[in-house]
Amino acid sequence: MRNVVAVLNQKGGVGKTTTVINIGAYLAKAGKSVLIIDFDPQGNATSGLGLDKHAPVANIYEVVSGKTTIDNAIQTTTIDGLYICMANANLAAAEVELASSNSKEFVLKKALSGVEYDYILIDCPPSLGLLTVNALCASAWLLIPVQAEYYALEGLTQLLDVMQRVKQGPNPDLQLLGVVATMYDNRNSLAQQVYKELQQYFGDSLFKSIVPRNVRLAEAPSYGKAIMEHDKWSKGAKAYKQLTKEVISRVS
Ligand SMILES: Nc1ncnc2c1ncn2[C@@H]1O[C@H](COP(=O)(O)OP(=O)(O)O)[C@@H](O)[C@H]1O
Ligand SMILES: [Mg+2]
Repeated sequence: MRNVVAVLNQKGGVGKTTTVINIGAYLAKAGKSVLIIDFDPQGNATSGLGLDKHAPVANIYEVVSGKTTIDNAIQTTTIDGLYICMANANLAAAEVELASSNSKEFVLKKALSGVEYDYILIDCPPSLGLLTVNALCASAWLLIPVQAEYYALEGLTQLLDVMQRVKQGPNPDLQLLGVVATMYDNRNSLAQQVYKELQQYFGDSLFKSIVPRNVRLAEAPSYGKAIMEHDKWSKGAKAYKQLTKEVISRVS
């Protein structure tokens, strides 16, 4: 579980899935083997990589409910070296089912044991429920995307609280990989102010790379593509390429 990264913020629409897809793509391009675990019942990482979330193949729900093993539930993508374990609305049932299982926080960790990739990225659902706790218990690192807008900081205390509780309890190895500002609009003085607050609060944990608000990033998933396939010269692409370099250097 050395290079397992949970990408989490309990708010929806802050750029978790976009971050998972695009860091995953650039890691793969850098020659790493990468497995994305789509751990959100919305299945946006799955569809964003051009896969059909309703395809009749085993997905992460079947894995965590013990119906199959992870090896049977991994799909290739259009990017060499990038693999995904898909999700769809079925996964919502797992939240309830896991609650009654033994060592309910460790179901994902157990499912991933022995799985060998250079990186495993977990796209978390927008909640702090049992699925998310499973993701945190299976991970060495937590990466938090924060939308550079008003209210962005709200909820972060609660998120860091959950991280501390997991560290003090089920997963002492969990560390903050970093916080990344997303959807940043530098014409907006509020965004600049939010960024300054993030700097004050997180110091060196804040990634230097800033992901701008960029229409090419927003449209890429509708083509089922990572930004490096959709428009590799866009500002969004450059930001995620840069962020991936930072991720590699922090992890190693
Ligand atoms: N930097 C960005 N610029 C513009 N749109 C973005 C950016 N990042 C994400 N989006 C879009 O915003 C929406 C929410 O992003 P997403 O990554 O799905 O967030 P989350 O997974 O946290 O819910 C999606 O439609 C996505 O395409
Ligand atoms: Mg998402």
